[in-house]
Amino acid sequence: MSRIRQLPVELVNQIAAGEVIERPASVVKELVENSLDADARRIEIDIEDGGARLIRVRDDGGGIDADDLPLAISAHATSKIASFDDLERVATLGFRGEALPSIASIARFALTSRPAAQEHALRIEVDGGKPQPPRPAQHPAGTTIEVRDLFYNVPARRKFLRAERTEFGRIDELIASLALVHTGVEFRLSHNGKPVRLLRAAADAATVAARVGDLLGEDFLQQSLHIEHAAAGLRLSGWVGLPTASRAQADQQYFYVNGRLVRDKVVAHAVRQAYADVLFHGRHPAFVLFLDLDPLGVDVNVHPAKHEVRFREARLVHDFLYRTLNEALAETRAGAAGVAPAAPLPAPANAGAYAYGNWRGQSALGLGVREPLADYAALLGAAPAMSGAAMTTAGDGWPAAQAAPVDGAAFAAGLAAADAGEAPPPLGYALAQLHGIYVLAQNAHGLVLVDMHAAHERITYERLKTAQAGQGIRSQLLLVPLAISLSEREAACVEDQEPRFAELGFELQRSGPQSVLVKRLPTLLDGADATQLIRDVVADLLVQGSSRRIEEAGNDVLATMACHGSVRANRRLSLPEMNALLRDMEATERSGQCNHGRPTWVQLSIGELDRLFLRGR
Ligand SMILES: Nc1ncnc2c1ncn2[C@@H]1O[C@H](COP(=O)(O)OP(=O)(O)OP(=O)(O)O)[C@@H](O)[C@H]1O
Ligand SMILES: [Mg+2]
Repeated sequence: MSRIRQLPVELVNQIAAGEVIERPASVVKELVENSLDADARRIEIDIEDGGARLIRVRDDGGGIDADDLPLAISAHATSKIASFDDLERVATLGFRGEALPSIASIARFALTSRPAAQEHALRIEVDGGKPQPPRPAQHPAGTTIEVRDLFYNVPARRKFLRAERTEFGRIDELIASLALVHTGVEFRLSHNGKPVRLLRAAADAATVAARVGDLLGEDFLQQSLHIEHAAAGLRLSGWVGLPTASRAQADQQYFYVNGRLVRDKVVAHAVRQAYADVLFHGRHPAFVLFLDLDPLGVDVNVHPAKHEVRFREARLVHDFLYRTLNEALAETRAGAAGVAPAAPLPAPANAGAYAYGNWRGQSALGLGVREPLADYAALLGAAPAMSGAAMTTAGDGWPAAQAAPVDGAAFAAGLAAADAGEAPPPLGYALAQLHGIYVLAQNAHGLVLVDMHAAHERITYERLKTAQAGQGIRSQLLLVPLAISLSEREAACVEDQEPRFAELGFELQRSGPQSVLVKRLPTLLDGADATQLIRDVVADLLVQGSSRRIEEAGNDVLATMACHGSVRANRRLSLPEMNALLRDMEATERSGQCNHGRPTWVQLSIGELDRLFLRGR
């Protein structure tokens, strides 16, 4: 007796629905994506009872031809692809030809549609998977789909529906995520008859930014950098949150690949690495990023609900993302983010002694800026010496500055610049020190407060990194080689990647099927847990083909050195020392936040001070 049978079509559709339709928001996603694929300019979403009672999506898109109507609701029928070739270069959000029949099999479903060229609309109803014959109906050009009583015939799923508010919250979040990327489309969302969102189509950069602000809050816009960068056929644009605006939850992270919101390990890893140096442990960055590339470079057919993709060249994508974001974040210098001095400020009388600094060189910040003054540089004398005397070979000025006398000519030039009304430095000039912890300074906007330890720590850390990079990775031979046991696959990876490890200062040798010997280690990692580090690096290499752990572990050591070597609280600084610190902050990458991601300085504007004193101006 035969025990294998063909499943009835309704059951096939219900099984497909099980994969894709988890909750009301999944229905909304499928319907709105269909509207977007149909080039709608306006999409209206009406929800009742969190979507359990009604989900209605109307659009003004291309519509469905009368002849195609029954096909639209049958399994494996789509207008979007026709061949494997098409599947490899999908440019639409949908392509599986499964969403409508799946939804129609687990709800009471109605589709009404009219292409602009067709005189009448047609309406087709499906009840739990059983379609009725189409009937003529009234409808403007476009399509409306109604989904009532979701999961009425799937009690197990219905039971898992959460409170109305929770389910609606998910729908709202979904609409926000679509509206962030489809900025040229108007979205209207209502719940139980009440309008909740109206997002008008954005036409230019300003209205696009306004929509982002509307969806994520003005704070997000103000505390993020807009980026746009293209290379090697990849293009990344969007907004990256400043490290100091990090969040307790990863709740404002939107990453789109060719217009599709995805979760991706390669992407997540690259982003995490880019923020690693500027974010406090356990905090999450906020970002809205759009990656665009040739559809051939990314496989979208890896997840039934299309939440994931697979990059054909994952390594290339990873490195492109990491580099682009890392460069953008390096620009978070104190004074650089939005605090451009508005009006020339007369230099305070006591500014003369150090006004010769990089005053004239604001546009060339960071590019060989000379050290302003010796005194504060001498503080670094307290820093632990780097192994191999890296400090004295640092080509970027510390030691030189220690010996630099005040340069009379440059000093005069600085004063002349001040007289000519040139812009003062962004962080202004120091006034005093508060409780041995904060530096108070005056700039064009008002009062600047600097946490001197945090600021100095970042500056020292960036310098140590530069010094280390200039020197190349140095390594030392171990007297007794260290044996590490790994899985066979991991040991093979070490063997394959031997040259890569060598570049990083390791000499490793496979000594058995499941063991390797460490013969040489990077000097900087002396004392670090080499065994765990190598295990982690191998895991990275196996999972994503690249690893920056060794560099990071080295940076951890440098960060600790920087922390110990930086000015402590209660250290009295002279005004020239404080001013030198301010100039260094302006010139140092990432100096807007300390090594733990906390801000190094804040601005209190005259306006804010006036408000404190209820002083009308
Ligand atoms: N709002 C709409 N406007 C115009 N045509 C639509 C609309 N919704 C669906 N269609 C048509 O119905 C077809 C079936 O839609 P369905 O969502 O089931 O499949 P799909 O979008 O092709 O693929 P996927 O299952 O990946 O979503 C689509 O290919 C499209 O031709
Ligand atoms: Mg679809």
